Amino acid sequence: MNIVDIINKKEEGNELSYEEIKYAVDGYLADEVKDYQMSSLLMAIEIKGMNIEEIYNLTKVMIDSGDIIDLSSINGIKVDKHSTGGVGDKTTLVVGPLAAVCGIKIAKMSGRALGFTGGTIDKLESIKGFNTNLSKEEFINQVNDIGLSITTTAGNLVPADKKIYALRDVSGTTEAIPLIASSIMSKKIASGSDKIIIDVKVGKGAFMKTLDDARLLSKTMIEIGKRFNKEVIAIITNMDYPLGNTIGNSLEVQEAIDTLNGNGDERFTKLCLILSSYMVSVGKNISIEDAFDEVVEKLNNKEGLNKFYEFIKYQGGDINSLEFGKNKIEIKSDKEGYLTDIDTLNLAGFINSLGAGRKDKNDKINPKVGFILTKKINDKIEKNDTLGYVISDSDIDINNLNNYFIIDSKNIDEINIVLDIIK
Ligand code: URA
Repeated sequence: MNIVDIINKKEEGNELSYEEIKYAVDGYLADEVKDYQMSSLLMAIEIKGMNIEEIYNLTKVMIDSGDIIDLSSINGIKVDKHSTGGVGDKTTLVVGPLAAVCGIKIAKMSGRALGFTGGTIDKLESIKGFNTNLSKEEFINQVNDIGLSITTTAGNLVPADKKIYALRDVSGTTEAIPLIASSIMSKKIASGSDKIIIDVKVGKGAFMKTLDDARLLSKTMIEIGKRFNKEVIAIITNMDYPLGNTIGNSLEVQEAIDTLNGNGDERFTKLCLILSSYMVSVGKNISIEDAFDEVVEKLNNKEGLNKFYEFIKYQGGDINSLEFGKNKIEIKSDKEGYLTDIDTLNLAGFINSLGAGRKDKNDKINPKVGFILTKKINDKIEKNDTLGYVISDSDIDINNLNNYFIIDSKNIDEINIVLDIIK
């Protein structure tokens, strides 16, 4: 077999066999297939696509590149939740405790931020002492004890995805549906949960820009899940604007606490309630309506908040240690009208450039910096109204940041946070 023949075969739009996919992926992990060859193959896949058999085979080869976590020593149904990546996305910090307190076992392996998306692990590391490097035993014991644990490690999970994902990020192939589906599903299947809820983001601040693409990605992941005997539900949600009121690591942890305390942004709270209801519904085999009632009760009686505190403490974190940048720089509107849009990607890029995210995987995160949004879509804006605050650690140039907030004379039709649910 020869990598150039495999690249040419995909370039001509032909189906790759299991053996050819394995040859390319294993060869890349072993450094026998070079970066430039793998980039060509990834681009051929982005342009010509893959059928479901090929996507299944790619997923299988990726899973087999590393460990599969065995969660069978955790009693009860394990439900995982994944987001395809968004700006200000701290949902895991809210839905994890809410679902756990309803009796669902959450053994979650999470990632760090790359590109414009945030990573749950970076957010948790803004809490001093919080251990994101649990051993497999610590991870499993914690879930048996308190129902919830989040770690980065506990096994060498899908090393092929780590290497290929980093290459996709610099070779313009992050948006190919077969590559996203196999990347997500290989990690979800290798991390061992029984059922998986996937929050598929669509919009200007997401990989999927159209609802049609988000539906296709969802159906692909559900079909791959079926072939591995895993129930997958995709909740397609709007990602045109940042999620909630904050972007940035410490700020988002604080917002998760506020949300669990009942003081969250309405749209964000609604999303968290829907995602956790589906986790509880599939985990306990009860109707979505009953699950919703249970989750709302746990939010209102603060059991979700108490579970969050218990989880942070159990992993060694001091929740009183959150730190925020000392500079709070006001962003004012220079027009009047209605807030009709936010340039989410550029706003996230600006905040990341202050240290909230990373360009390179070795960049160090500054947990203290971020942005607080003070206006919502369709809010009436007067000239000089505050649109938000940059939270920074140093003096920075905020030139033209108000241009990221689009003010128009007419308001717009509201876009629902949940756009479709696919089972
Ligand atoms: N999240 C992943 O894990 N992989 C992708 O390819 C995109 C989002």
